[in-house]
Amino acid sequence: MVFVPLAIFVFGSASAVLSASTPKDPVRLRDLVKRGGTVTGPVLPLNFADPGLILPNGRAPWYVYSTSSSHGKVPYAISEDFKTWTGVKGDALPNPGSWVSPSNSAVWAPDVRQITSNSYVMYYTAFSAANGNHCIGAATSSTPAGPFNPQASPIVCDASGGGVIDASGFEAPGGTLYLVWKVDGNSMGKSTPIFIQPLGANGYTLQGKATQLITNDPVDGGIVEAPSLVYWDGFYYLFFSSNHYNTLKYDVSYAISKSVTGPYTKVQAPHAPLLVSGKCGTAGPGGATVINVLGESPTFSLMNGCGTLTIFEPIQDKYINAVFHNDINGKNVSAGRSMWQISDLTLSNGIATVNC
Ligand SMILES: *[C@@H]1O[C@H](CO)[C@@H](O)[C@H](O)[C@H]1NC(C)=O
Repeated sequence: MVFVPLAIFVFGSASAVLSASTPKDPVRLRDLVKRGGTVTGPVLPLNFADPGLILPNGRAPWYVYSTSSSHGKVPYAISEDFKTWTGVKGDALPNPGSWVSPSNSAVWAPDVRQITSNSYVMYYTAFSAANGNHCIGAATSSTPAGPFNPQASPIVCDASGGGVIDASGFEAPGGTLYLVWKVDGNSMGKSTPIFIQPLGANGYTLQGKATQLITNDPVDGGIVEAPSLVYWDGFYYLFFSSNHYNTLKYDVSYAISKSVTGPYTKVQAPHAPLLVSGKCGTAGPGGATVINVLGESPTFSLMNGCGTLTIFEPIQDKYINAVFHNDINGKNVSAGRSMWQISDLTLSNGIATVNC
């Protein structure tokens, strides 16, 4: 992908040299490959809240999954180019599991991770009748489209803390898998700590013990939630949303650490929040999933002016993409939340930036 603009550059600059009358700034390779961090949306103009994102095997199509809606328990959509998305293709989790209350069986904030070339785990939130609160479940599938097969019991519950929601997976450098989640303390006037805990090689059995990463500070309007953890160039970036999700104060912010289990420092203005209502045309942006991707670029060849064949070797194309939701009516969640995206989110030295 990177070398497509290079071809334009090679031929374009040759003609510029010939005409010579309109000199332009020299184009350098690093400008051509510079990452933009572009926010666009809505890219799925229908109710598609709390989207989770993966690129299976580092190759298109991309898959996104949403909170339950009229489109299914866990509706999913796909994209071949991370620009144009299909409408809802189907339901990836038609059966959320025997532990889920039959009378209150909606599924929230699904997140899917690839564990091996043909095994995927979905983490999701649902109401447990036995526990009397929200718990986090895990379901497995050999394909990203599912249907995912739920475990018989939830993998995390915390009724006294207010329930647990918003789970997501993370693979640290070196391969250790983790689960990250929010204690839903605001449901009972308590704090909303975000925890991390290692997972076994199957991607859903908890190991060791949970460590608190951050909790809500006064500036967060009583809430931090929707954690999404990504590693990039020496830093762990913990993306989260703060404030109430049905207000225009909802946002996408982040904290950073040099160690996966912290301590994490919330990044402050002007570098955070990353997205607030009004920025790039957003309204109530939140529920982001941020992933780093090691994709493959194809071998590329072209003729230069002397007729010599030049072949670029295939390269590993490393970049960061994100999806998030945004209020359809521009005010609150009452009309639903559509999916927006960030292409090539720029992370550098502990600072995340986007352009519009
Ligand atoms: C959400 O916004 C709509 C449209 O402005 C408004 O009618 C409704 O009262 C709002 N609901 C809440 C819960 O704020």
